[in-house]
Amino acid sequence: MAKRTNKRQSTLPEPPKPVPALETPVARASFFTIYLIITIIIGLGGAAWYRSYLEESNLSSGETETAVWKVVELPGKGFGMVAKRNISQGTTILREKPLFLVPASIRESPERLIASLVSQLSPEKRRQFNALSHHSNPDSTGEAQMLAKTQTNAISAGDMIGIFPNTARLNHGCSSAFNVAYNWAAGEQELVVQAFKPIMEGEEILTTYTDTKRPRDERRQYLQGAYNFFCTCSVCSLPPEESKRSDERLVEMSRLKSKLSEWGSKDMGGGEATNIINKIWKLGEEEGYWSERGSLAWDAVQVAAAHGQEDATRRWALVAEKWFSIELGPNSLQAKDAANIIRRPKSHPSWGARYRVKVESPAF
Ligand SMILES: *[C@@H]1O[C@H](CO)[C@@H](O)[C@H](O)[C@H]1NC(C)=O
Repeated sequence: MAKRTNKRQSTLPEPPKPVPALETPVARASFFTIYLIITIIIGLGGAAWYRSYLEESNLSSGETETAVWKVVELPGKGFGMVAKRNISQGTTILREKPLFLVPASIRESPERLIASLVSQLSPEKRRQFNALSHHSNPDSTGEAQMLAKTQTNAISAGDMIGIFPNTARLNHGCSSAFNVAYNWAAGEQELVVQAFKPIMEGEEILTTYTDTKRPRDERRQYLQGAYNFFCTCSVCSLPPEESKRSDERLVEMSRLKSKLSEWGSKDMGGGEATNIINKIWKLGEEEGYWSERGSLAWDAVQVAAAHGQEDATRRWALVAEKWFSIELGPNSLQAKDAANIIRRPKSHPSWGARYRVKVESPAF
Protein backbone atom coordinates (compact mmCIF):
# COMPACT_ATOMS: atom_id res chain seq x y z
CA MET A 1 0.00 0.00 0.00
CA ALA A 2 1.34 3.38 -0.88
CA LYS A 3 1.07 6.69 0.79
CA ARG A 4 1.67 9.95 -0.91
CA THR A 5 4.98 10.99 0.41
CA ASN A 6 6.96 13.89 -0.88
CA LYS A 7 10.34 12.44 -1.72
CA ARG A 8 12.38 15.46 -0.94
CA GLN A 9 14.69 14.28 1.77
CA SER A 10 18.30 15.28 2.08
CA THR A 11 20.89 12.85 0.79
CA LEU A 12 23.47 13.63 3.41
CA PRO A 13 23.81 11.70 6.63
CA GLU A 14 23.69 14.56 9.08
CA PRO A 15 21.34 17.35 10.13
CA PRO A 16 18.75 18.34 9.28
CA LYS A 17 16.56 16.22 7.04
CA PRO A 18 14.24 18.88 5.66
CA VAL A 19 11.42 16.54 4.72
CA PRO A 20 11.25 13.12 6.26
CA ALA A 21 10.05 10.46 3.87
CA LEU A 22 7.45 8.20 5.35
CA GLU A 23 6.60 5.08 3.59
CA THR A 24 5.92 2.88 6.57
CA PRO A 25 3.16 0.52 5.51
CA VAL A 26 0.00 0.30 7.55
CA ALA A 27 0.59 -3.38 8.06
CA ARG A 28 0.04 -5.50 11.13
CA ALA A 29 0.38 -4.61 14.79
CA SER A 30 -0.13 -6.16 18.11
CA PHE A 31 -3.36 -5.81 19.94
CA PHE A 32 -1.51 -3.78 22.48
CA THR A 33 -0.35 -1.23 19.92
CA ILE A 34 -3.90 -0.61 18.81
CA TYR A 35 -5.07 -0.39 22.39
CA LEU A 36 -2.32 2.12 23.06
CA ILE A 37 -3.11 4.22 20.01
CA ILE A 38 -6.79 4.36 20.83
CA THR A 39 -5.94 5.29 24.40
CA ILE A 40 -3.66 8.07 23.28
CA ILE A 41 -5.96 9.56 20.69
CA ILE A 42 -9.37 9.05 22.21
CA GLY A 43 -8.73 8.40 25.85
CA LEU A 44 -7.55 10.62 28.71
CA GLY A 45 -10.22 13.15 27.95
CA GLY A 46 -8.80 13.49 24.47
CA ALA A 47 -12.07 12.91 22.69
CA ALA A 48 -13.45 16.33 23.54
CA TRP A 49 -10.19 18.02 22.71
CA TYR A 50 -9.94 16.16 19.44
CA ARG A 51 -13.50 17.07 18.46
CA SER A 52 -12.94 20.75 19.13
CA TYR A 53 -9.63 20.54 17.30
CA LEU A 54 -11.43 19.12 14.29
CA GLU A 55 -14.12 21.80 14.46
CA GLU A 56 -11.44 24.46 14.37
CA SER A 57 -9.96 22.92 11.26
CA ASN A 58 -10.18 25.51 8.60
CA LEU A 59 -10.53 23.77 5.28
CA SER A 60 -10.01 26.06 2.36
CA SER A 61 -12.51 25.48 -0.38
CA GLY A 62 -11.97 25.81 -4.09
CA GLU A 63 -15.38 27.45 -4.25
CA THR A 64 -14.38 30.49 -2.21
CA GLU A 65 -13.77 33.77 -3.96
CA THR A 66 -10.12 33.97 -2.96
CA ALA A 67 -9.10 30.39 -3.79
CA VAL A 68 -6.65 30.09 -6.67
CA TRP A 69 -7.80 26.57 -7.52
CA LYS A 70 -10.94 24.63 -8.35
CA VAL A 71 -11.77 20.97 -8.73
CA VAL A 72 -12.99 19.98 -12.19
CA GLU A 73 -13.63 16.79 -14.07
CA LEU A 74 -10.81 16.12 -16.54
CA PRO A 75 -11.21 13.96 -19.62
CA GLY A 76 -10.02 10.40 -18.95
CA LYS A 77 -8.69 11.29 -15.51
CA GLY A 78 -11.61 11.72 -13.17
CA PHE A 79 -11.34 14.79 -10.98
CA GLY A 80 -8.37 17.08 -10.70
CA MET A 81 -7.38 20.51 -9.53
CA VAL A 82 -6.80 23.37 -11.96
CA ALA A 83 -5.64 26.96 -11.52
CA LYS A 84 -8.49 29.50 -11.47
CA ARG A 85 -6.05 32.26 -12.36
CA ASN A 86 -2.35 32.70 -13.11
CA ILE A 87 -0.44 31.57 -10.05
CA SER A 88 3.03 32.92 -9.47
CA GLN A 89 5.94 30.90 -8.17
CA GLY A 90 5.99 30.61 -4.38
CA THR A 91 2.22 31.10 -3.96
CA THR A 92 0.55 29.12 -1.20
CA ILE A 93 -2.14 27.15 -3.05
CA LEU A 94 -3.89 26.03 0.12
CA ARG A 95 -3.39 25.24 3.77
CA GLU A 96 -5.35 22.39 5.20
CA LYS A 97 -5.90 20.76 8.57
CA PRO A 98 -6.43 17.00 8.52
CA LEU A 99 -9.83 15.38 8.92
CA PHE A 100 -7.88 13.10 11.23
CA LEU A 101 -4.36 11.85 11.86
CA VAL A 102 -3.27 8.25 12.25
CA PRO A 103 0.12 7.06 13.49
CA ALA A 104 2.11 5.77 10.50
CA SER A 105 2.88 2.42 12.06
CA ILE A 106 -0.34 0.82 13.17
CA ARG A 107 -0.17 -2.79 12.33
CA GLU A 108 -3.00 -5.16 12.90
CA SER A 109 -6.63 -4.51 11.93
CA PRO A 110 -6.63 -0.74 11.83
CA GLU A 111 -10.28 -0.78 10.69
CA ARG A 112 -11.55 -0.18 14.19
CA LEU A 113 -9.30 2.80 14.72
CA ILE A 114 -10.25 4.44 11.42
CA ALA A 115 -13.95 3.77 12.00
CA SER A 116 -13.70 5.34 15.40
CA LEU A 117 -11.95 8.43 14.01
CA VAL A 118 -14.51 8.75 11.22
CA SER A 119 -17.40 8.42 13.68
CA GLN A 120 -16.12 11.53 15.49
CA LEU A 121 -16.24 13.72 12.37
CA SER A 122 -18.91 16.37 11.94
CA PRO A 123 -21.51 15.52 9.25
CA GLU A 124 -19.82 17.86 6.76
CA LYS A 125 -16.40 16.34 7.35
CA ARG A 126 -17.79 12.85 7.16
CA ARG A 127 -19.28 13.80 3.79
CA GLN A 128 -15.82 14.95 2.66
CA PHE A 129 -14.33 11.69 3.85
CA ASN A 130 -17.00 9.60 2.13
CA ALA A 131 -16.40 11.48 -1.14
CA LEU A 132 -12.78 10.29 -1.29
CA SER A 133 -11.94 7.62 -3.82
CA HIS A 134 -10.35 4.29 -3.06
CA HIS A 135 -8.78 1.90 -5.52
CA SER A 136 -7.56 -0.75 -3.14
CA ASN A 137 -10.26 -3.20 -2.14
CA PRO A 138 -12.82 -1.56 -4.51
CA ASP A 139 -15.83 -3.66 -3.48
CA SER A 140 -15.38 -3.14 0.22
CA THR A 141 -18.06 -1.67 2.44
CA GLY A 142 -18.26 -0.35 5.98
CA GLU A 143 -15.10 -0.29 8.03
CA ALA A 144 -13.05 -2.03 5.33
CA GLN A 145 -14.02 0.71 2.89
CA MET A 146 -13.07 3.43 5.38
CA LEU A 147 -9.68 1.80 5.68
CA ALA A 148 -9.34 1.58 1.89
CA LYS A 149 -10.16 5.29 1.54
CA THR A 150 -7.56 6.08 4.17
CA GLN A 151 -4.96 3.91 2.46
CA THR A 152 -5.55 5.51 -0.93
CA ASN A 153 -5.52 9.09 0.28
CA ALA A 154 -3.21 9.23 3.28
CA ILE A 155 -0.52 11.90 3.18
CA SER A 156 2.44 11.95 5.51
CA ALA A 157 2.21 14.55 8.25
CA GLY A 158 5.29 14.49 10.43
CA ASP A 159 5.38 11.12 12.13
CA MET A 160 1.74 10.51 11.35
CA ILE A 161 -0.35 10.18 8.24
CA GLY A 162 -3.41 12.33 7.67
CA ILE A 163 -6.48 12.68 5.51
CA PHE A 164 -6.64 15.99 3.65
CA PRO A 165 -9.66 16.02 1.33
CA ASN A 166 -8.62 19.04 -0.75
CA THR A 167 -4.98 18.08 -1.20
CA ALA A 168 -6.19 14.57 -2.04
CA ARG A 169 -7.62 16.04 -5.26
CA LEU A 170 -4.14 16.70 -6.60
CA ASN A 171 -3.21 14.34 -9.39
CA HIS A 172 0.29 13.14 -10.07
CA GLY A 173 2.89 14.36 -12.55
CA CYS A 174 6.47 13.14 -13.04
CA SER A 175 9.70 15.13 -13.18
CA SER A 176 9.04 18.48 -14.88
CA ALA A 177 5.26 17.94 -14.92
CA PHE A 178 4.47 18.57 -11.27
CA ASN A 179 4.30 22.11 -10.06
CA VAL A 180 3.34 22.04 -6.39
CA ALA A 181 4.73 20.41 -3.28
CA TYR A 182 3.06 19.87 0.06
CA ASN A 183 4.76 20.00 3.37
CA TRP A 184 3.53 19.35 6.90
CA ALA A 185 3.93 22.46 9.04
CA ALA A 186 4.31 20.96 12.50
CA GLY A 187 3.91 24.29 14.29
CA GLU A 188 0.56 25.05 12.67
CA GLN A 189 -0.38 21.36 12.45
CA GLU A 190 -1.47 21.82 8.86
CA LEU A 191 -0.44 20.82 5.38
CA VAL A 192 0.87 23.64 3.21
CA VAL A 193 0.71 23.30 -0.57
CA GLN A 194 3.11 25.60 -2.42
CA ALA A 195 3.48 26.34 -6.13
CA PHE A 196 7.20 26.03 -6.84
CA LYS A 197 6.61 26.84 -10.49
CA PRO A 198 4.40 29.47 -12.07
CA ILE A 199 1.06 27.90 -13.09
CA MET A 200 -1.14 29.31 -15.84
CA GLU A 201 -4.88 29.82 -15.53
CA GLY A 202 -6.62 26.57 -16.53
CA GLU A 203 -3.46 24.49 -16.15
CA GLU A 204 -3.71 21.42 -13.96
CA ILE A 205 -2.10 21.67 -10.54
CA LEU A 206 -0.01 18.55 -9.99
CA THR A 207 2.02 17.10 -7.21
CA THR A 208 4.14 13.97 -7.24
CA TYR A 209 3.24 10.75 -5.45
CA THR A 210 6.71 9.25 -5.57
CA ASP A 211 10.34 9.92 -6.41
CA THR A 212 10.22 10.24 -10.19
CA LYS A 213 13.96 10.37 -10.74
CA ARG A 214 13.86 7.04 -12.55
CA PRO A 215 13.07 5.90 -16.10
CA ARG A 216 9.57 6.17 -17.54
CA ASP A 217 8.84 2.45 -17.60
CA GLU A 218 9.82 2.06 -13.97
CA ARG A 219 7.75 5.06 -12.95
CA ARG A 220 4.70 3.80 -14.81
CA GLN A 221 5.02 0.34 -13.37
CA TYR A 222 5.28 1.68 -9.85
CA LEU A 223 2.33 4.07 -10.25
CA GLN A 224 0.21 1.35 -11.80
CA GLY A 225 0.89 -0.98 -8.90
CA ALA A 226 0.66 1.54 -6.07
CA TYR A 227 -2.04 3.90 -7.37
CA ASN A 228 -3.71 1.94 -10.14
CA PHE A 229 -3.25 4.37 -13.03
CA PHE A 230 -1.20 4.50 -16.20
CA CYS A 231 0.75 7.76 -16.14
CA THR A 232 0.21 9.98 -19.18
CA CYS A 233 1.71 13.16 -17.71
CA SER A 234 3.56 15.54 -20.03
CA VAL A 235 6.87 13.79 -19.28
CA CYS A 236 5.52 10.25 -19.76
CA SER A 237 3.95 11.45 -23.03
CA LEU A 238 7.19 12.74 -24.56
CA PRO A 239 8.15 11.36 -27.99
CA PRO A 240 10.67 8.49 -27.78
CA GLU A 241 13.88 10.48 -28.34
CA GLU A 242 13.00 13.20 -25.84
CA SER A 243 11.72 10.63 -23.38
CA LYS A 244 15.03 8.82 -23.60
CA ARG A 245 16.96 12.01 -22.88
CA SER A 246 14.69 12.81 -19.97
CA ASP A 247 15.21 9.29 -18.56
CA GLU A 248 18.98 9.71 -18.86
CA ARG A 249 18.91 12.99 -16.97
CA LEU A 250 16.69 11.58 -14.22
CA VAL A 251 18.78 8.45 -13.78
CA GLU A 252 21.93 10.56 -13.65
CA MET A 253 20.40 12.92 -11.06
CA SER A 254 19.51 9.92 -8.97
CA ARG A 255 22.96 8.37 -9.34
CA LEU A 256 24.67 11.61 -8.37
CA LYS A 257 22.36 12.00 -5.38
CA SER A 258 23.31 8.63 -3.99
CA LYS A 259 26.96 9.32 -4.74
CA LEU A 260 26.65 12.52 -2.75
CA SER A 261 25.71 10.53 0.31
CA GLU A 262 29.29 9.21 0.34
CA TRP A 263 30.43 12.60 1.58
CA GLY A 264 31.12 12.28 5.26
CA SER A 265 31.16 8.52 5.44
CA LYS A 266 33.67 7.79 2.69
CA ASP A 267 36.64 9.51 1.21
CA MET A 268 34.87 12.30 -0.63
CA GLY A 269 36.03 15.85 -0.16
CA GLY A 270 33.94 19.00 -0.02
CA GLY A 271 35.10 20.09 -3.47
CA GLU A 272 33.78 16.96 -5.10
CA ALA A 273 30.55 17.01 -3.09
CA THR A 274 29.72 20.59 -4.07
CA ASN A 275 30.71 19.83 -7.65
CA ILE A 276 28.17 17.00 -7.65
CA ILE A 277 25.53 19.34 -6.26
CA ASN A 278 26.21 21.82 -9.07
CA LYS A 279 25.89 18.98 -11.58
CA ILE A 280 22.57 17.84 -10.14
CA TRP A 281 21.35 21.42 -10.27
CA LYS A 282 22.33 21.75 -13.93
CA LEU A 283 20.60 18.49 -14.87
CA GLY A 284 17.50 19.61 -12.98
CA GLU A 285 17.53 22.87 -14.92
CA GLU A 286 17.74 21.01 -18.26
CA GLU A 287 15.04 18.58 -17.20
CA GLY A 288 12.76 21.22 -15.71
CA TYR A 289 12.91 19.40 -12.37
CA TRP A 290 12.79 22.24 -9.86
CA SER A 291 11.57 20.40 -6.83
CA GLU A 292 14.00 19.60 -3.96
CA ARG A 293 16.22 22.56 -4.78
CA GLY A 294 16.03 23.86 -1.22
CA SER A 295 17.25 20.60 0.27
CA LEU A 296 19.93 20.23 -2.39
CA ALA A 297 21.33 23.68 -1.60
CA TRP A 298 20.97 22.86 2.11
CA ASP A 299 23.18 19.81 1.58
CA ALA A 300 25.75 22.15 0.05
CA VAL A 301 25.43 24.45 3.08
CA GLN A 302 26.31 21.52 5.29
CA VAL A 303 29.32 20.55 3.19
CA ALA A 304 30.60 24.13 3.00
CA ALA A 305 30.08 24.67 6.74
CA ALA A 306 31.75 21.40 7.72
CA HIS A 307 34.81 22.39 5.70
CA GLY A 308 34.81 25.82 7.34
CA GLN A 309 34.08 27.87 4.21
CA GLU A 310 32.22 30.93 5.41
CA ASP A 311 31.62 32.62 2.09
CA ALA A 312 30.46 29.46 0.30
CA THR A 313 28.26 28.55 3.27
CA ARG A 314 26.51 31.90 3.04
CA ARG A 315 26.10 31.70 -0.75
CA TRP A 316 24.54 28.25 -0.59
CA ALA A 317 22.36 29.34 2.33
CA LEU A 318 21.02 32.19 0.18
CA VAL A 319 20.02 29.64 -2.46
CA ALA A 320 18.53 27.31 0.15
CA GLU A 321 16.53 30.12 1.75
CA LYS A 322 15.15 31.20 -1.61
CA TRP A 323 14.04 27.71 -2.65
CA PHE A 324 12.81 26.60 0.75
CA SER A 325 10.65 29.73 0.74
CA ILE A 326 9.32 28.89 -2.70
CA GLU A 327 8.72 25.18 -2.16
CA LEU A 328 7.92 24.98 1.56
CA GLY A 329 6.88 28.56 2.30
CA PRO A 330 8.76 31.53 3.77
CA ASN A 331 7.55 30.60 7.26
CA SER A 332 8.79 27.03 7.03
CA LEU A 333 11.35 25.98 9.62
CA GLN A 334 13.69 25.12 6.77
CA ALA A 335 13.58 28.65 5.31
CA LYS A 336 14.13 30.11 8.78
CA ASP A 337 17.08 27.81 9.46
CA ALA A 338 18.65 28.87 6.16
CA ALA A 339 18.06 32.55 6.96
CA ASN A 340 19.91 32.10 10.25
CA ILE A 341 22.89 30.59 8.45
CA ILE A 342 22.97 33.52 6.02
CA ARG A 343 23.39 35.81 9.03
CA ARG A 344 25.77 33.59 10.97
CA PRO A 345 27.41 30.88 8.81
CA LYS A 346 29.55 29.69 11.70
CA SER A 347 26.46 28.83 13.76
CA HIS A 348 25.81 25.80 11.53
CA PRO A 349 25.90 22.64 13.71
CA SER A 350 28.47 21.08 11.37
CA TRP A 351 30.74 24.14 11.31
CA GLY A 352 34.40 23.11 11.11
CA ALA A 353 33.67 19.42 11.66
CA ARG A 354 36.00 18.44 8.82
CA TYR A 355 39.34 19.58 7.46
CA ARG A 356 39.40 23.03 5.89
CA VAL A 357 39.27 22.85 2.14
CA LYS A 358 37.86 25.06 -0.57
CA VAL A 359 34.45 24.00 -1.87
CA GLU A 360 32.46 25.10 -4.90
CA SER A 361 29.98 27.94 -4.66
CA PRO A 362 26.70 27.85 -6.60
CA ALA A 363 27.56 27.74 -10.32
CA PHE A 364 24.31 29.34 -11.49
C1 LIG B 1 -1.50 34.56 -17.58
O1 LIG B 1 -0.19 34.31 -18.01
C2 LIG B 1 -0.09 34.16 -19.42
C3 LIG B 1 1.33 33.69 -19.72
O2 LIG B 1 2.27 34.44 -19.02
C4 LIG B 1 -0.45 35.47 -20.09
O3 LIG B 1 -0.36 35.33 -21.49
C5 LIG B 1 -1.88 35.82 -19.69
O4 LIG B 1 -2.22 37.09 -20.23
C6 LIG B 1 -2.02 35.85 -18.18
N1 LIG B 1 -3.42 36.02 -17.85
C7 LIG B 1 -3.84 36.91 -16.95
C8 LIG B 1 -5.30 36.95 -16.69
O5 LIG B 1 -3.07 37.65 -16.35
